Amino acid sequence: MLPLALAACDGPQSALDPAGHEAEAVSQLFWWMAGASLVLWVLVVGLSFYASRRREQPWPARRAARLILVCGALLPTLLLAALLVFGLRLMPVLRAPGDGLRVEVEGQQFWWRVRYVLPDGRRFETANEVRLPVGSRTEFLLTAQDVIHSFWIPSLGGKMDMIPGTTNRLVLEPTQTGRFRGACAEFCGASHALMAMSVEVMEPEAFTAWVEREAGAAAASTDEGAALFLARGCGACHTVRGTAAAGRVGPDLTHLGARPTIAAGILPNSPENIDRFIRETQAIKPAARMPSFGMLPPAESAAIATWLGSLR
Ligand code: CUA
Repeated sequence: MLPLALAACDGPQSALDPAGHEAEAVSQLFWWMAGASLVLWVLVVGLSFYASRRREQPWPARRAARLILVCGALLPTLLLAALLVFGLRLMPVLRAPGDGLRVEVEGQQFWWRVRYVLPDGRRFETANEVRLPVGSRTEFLLTAQDVIHSFWIPSLGGKMDMIPGTTNRLVLEPTQTGRFRGACAEFCGASHALMAMSVEVMEPEAFTAWVEREAGAAAASTDEGAALFLARGCGACHTVRGTAAAGRVGPDLTHLGARPTIAAGILPNSPENIDRFIRETQAIKPAARMPSFGMLPPAESAAIATWLGSLR
């Protein structure tokens, strides 16, 4: 059990290795709760053991009643009340306002639509990737399109449900730069376990440069893959800004080549993996809304994948 338990203490997706203000509160709460639970457990087990050994010579009734009152009622009440007060005191951290940047995320089976609303009012869309500036508070507005999902970046903060027809709010303040992993934390269908996202916390200047690039359209291209993308109907579901592809069903692919992962955080980004995903969608992500396009001639899907991979 111990190696299993310790395996959760590190890595890009651990609530116990906090890289954000809100995650620190969660991790603090966890360790205090775990510590207090351990004290209670030792007490209860110790007393049971003691009682079983004393069966032959029972205590006088008054002494036994006092023991039950103190150890069975008073002590747990005090300990649990202290934990409640401690937990409530952490809550304002989770309710404070943001610093101006807003990210609207919509969960869908089995990916994330991500819309950035900048402090100057500009907005742009991306998918399955969240980038944040270190040291400032970003406000997330979370909803879902089809079923309930849950937005969770363990290294940065607690999870929040995404419910169709409702908007939930979450504010995250990362305190360290780095790459992290987010995951869907609510069972949402066959590929729930394959619904992840890549998260990158950047220095403010690098973040601004990314925003400027990401807000723009894709570079014009006479690439064969660009023509095939439209000719084979990919644009009916996907948007690539700067081209005629303006579909709203699937993820926006405008700067797909610049994302570290594809298919909602489950495959490293490379033209080979994009090609594989186009041809074997249902094998890689069962029950996704995109059908497998294995019927395309291999040269065509490879050309489309190469073009998509070049969109930076
Ligand atoms: Cu989306 Cu689980």
